[in-house]
Amino acid sequence: MKIAILGSGLMGAKLGRLWATCGHDVTFAYSRDRAKLDRLAKETGGAAGSVREAVDDAGAVLLAVHWSRTGDVLEQAGDLAGQVVLNCCVPLNDDDSALVLSPGTSGAEELARMRPDARWVSCFNTSPSESFELVFARKDTMPRPHLMFYGDDDAAKDVAGSLISDIGFEPLDAGGLSTGRYAEPFAMVTAVLAYGQPGGPALTYRFNKLR
Ligand SMILES: NC(=O)c1ccc[n+]([C@@H]2O[C@H](COP(=O)([O-])OP(=O)(O)OC[C@H]3O[C@@H](n4cnc5c(N)ncnc54)[C@H](OP(=O)(O)O)[C@@H]3O)[C@@H](O)[C@H]2O)c1
Repeated sequence: MKIAILGSGLMGAKLGRLWATCGHDVTFAYSRDRAKLDRLAKETGGAAGSVREAVDDAGAVLLAVHWSRTGDVLEQAGDLAGQVVLNCCVPLNDDDSALVLSPGTSGAEELARMRPDARWVSCFNTSPSESFELVFARKDTMPRPHLMFYGDDDAAKDVAGSLISDIGFEPLDAGGLSTGRYAEPFAMVTAVLAYGQPGGPALTYRFNKLR
């Protein structure tokens, strides 16, 4: 699958590398450093390009920028009509210390308002990037860690679920986009546990229903 990586930082570069290892055709975009995009392309056998080039014909688009950059990236990306967009962005203020949206909405819903014809799925926002390579390396160890995903388009969620499985997580369907109202604060909890507790940031989670 052709995957567009919009924001090639901690999240975008790591997920893009792993998806390339799985055989996907990855295009890295949206960095202030074109040499970095070219390096990622060379190392992964993928491509580097503009946002518009990356999203053109992409089967999935990963939006992985700071919340303050989302408007700019979407402007460059166009209407994204019919395209599956995986959103890992947490709606944070400039120093990442607080959520900027009121509890009656979420980043997931606001992005969908900005590009209503895109097929949005939120995922990877509740797991620190430091976990991805380790999860990938342990893909054959069962049970896998969960990764919550949510969206309003079932077929888009199937695409997201497959890409989540490629990384080595078990996709956990957490409902529609409005779940972002609860999942985005939960993302802050995972950050507190990952970065504020001893043991390093490679944190994963798994929910169990008992009966
Ligand atoms: N990191 C995590 O573990 C984690 C976990 C859960 C959710 N998230 C969310 O995922 C999203 C991406 O996080 P990240 O950690 O990957 O961020 P990051 O490392 O800062 O990467 C952001 C990307 O956006 C690019 N960018 C282009 N123009 C920019 C500009 N004018 N100002 C700032 N950046 C610009 C950066 O370019 P350069 O290459 O030039 O820096 C970089 O490639 C965020 O919304 C974050 O809340 C992150």
